[in-house]
Amino acid sequence: MEQQSKIALITGGSRGLGKNMALALAEKGTDVIITYRSRKDEAFEVVSAIEANGRKAAAMQLDTSVVAGFKTFGNEVSALINEKWSRSQFDYLINNAGIDNRSLINDTTEDAFDSLMNVHFKGVYFLTQQLLPMIADNGGIVNLSTGLTRFTTPGYAAYASMKGAIETFTKYLAKEAGSRGIRANVVAPGIVKTDFTKAAREAFPDLEKIMSGNTALGRIGEPEDIGGVVAFLCSDDARWVNAQRIEASGGYSL
Ligand SMILES: NC(=O)c1ccc[n+]([C@@H]2O[C@H](COP(=O)([O-])OP(=O)(O)OC[C@H]3O[C@@H](n4cnc5c(N)ncnc54)[C@H](OP(=O)(O)O)[C@@H]3O)[C@@H](O)[C@H]2O)c1
Repeated sequence: MEQQSKIALITGGSRGLGKNMALALAEKGTDVIITYRSRKDEAFEVVSAIEANGRKAAAMQLDTSVVAGFKTFGNEVSALINEKWSRSQFDYLINNAGIDNRSLINDTTEDAFDSLMNVHFKGVYFLTQQLLPMIADNGGIVNLSTGLTRFTTPGYAAYASMKGAIETFTKYLAKEAGSRGIRANVVAPGIVKTDFTKAAREAFPDLEKIMSGNTALGRIGEPEDIGGVVAFLCSDDARWVNAQRIEASGGYSL
């Protein structure tokens, strides 16, 4: 009998790290559902690239900062996996979608704080709550954090605090979902060349040089440095890795 493919759902898979995770998972034989907020065309290009390599893929619209939409999204995921995979559950959830919004503590507005909070913590918490019953036993969850919870860069107090909350949430998730064999881990990238860091890289032309100089491997990250780490965590090779924070920063600030 043909073995059933695993399915991973990645939020924010239209570009950047999420796109690379989708490609890396598909490369390792996992089918993929990605979500996008507004860049539908880019999301469907990712789907086409995966399908061209012989795996199943789908893209769905979701704003991960709007909790009120999660019940409907859950129903849509359910219908999709039933139709496309003849299944009622998927295997891996990767909470990746995110926004950059840099400001010093002195200058942070309540609106900026709330928008970071909604996408980086509240949205992740309640989307995971909504989807947990749809994650198959012995599946897994990967939450994206940042190197900025270990070291500091002025301007990222609110963002890094919320990622710190995600790291704590992940430990609780691992504890509570462990009875179903579901593992929960954190991947914490250092700076990576994506749209997310574009504004900061443009505002500080020396940033890349300075960050590279403070990295043991002598450069900043590329999206391809991250996808494989997530693909590993979403595989049986990582079956005994649980409640861990894996930093992928090339050895920044050692
Ligand atoms: N790049 C880095 O240096 C770095 C370092 C550490 C951690 N991270 C973390 O890694 C994750 C991905 O970052 P990235 O560099 O890949 O960012 P990116 O290139 O800016 O891509 C962001 C992705 O998230 C989606 N997204 C943004 N806001 C959303 C929302 N409200 N609802 C749903 N989807 C939303 C975007 O969808 P659309 O394309 O449709 O807009 C896009 O797919 C984030 O959690 C970030 O905090 C990044």
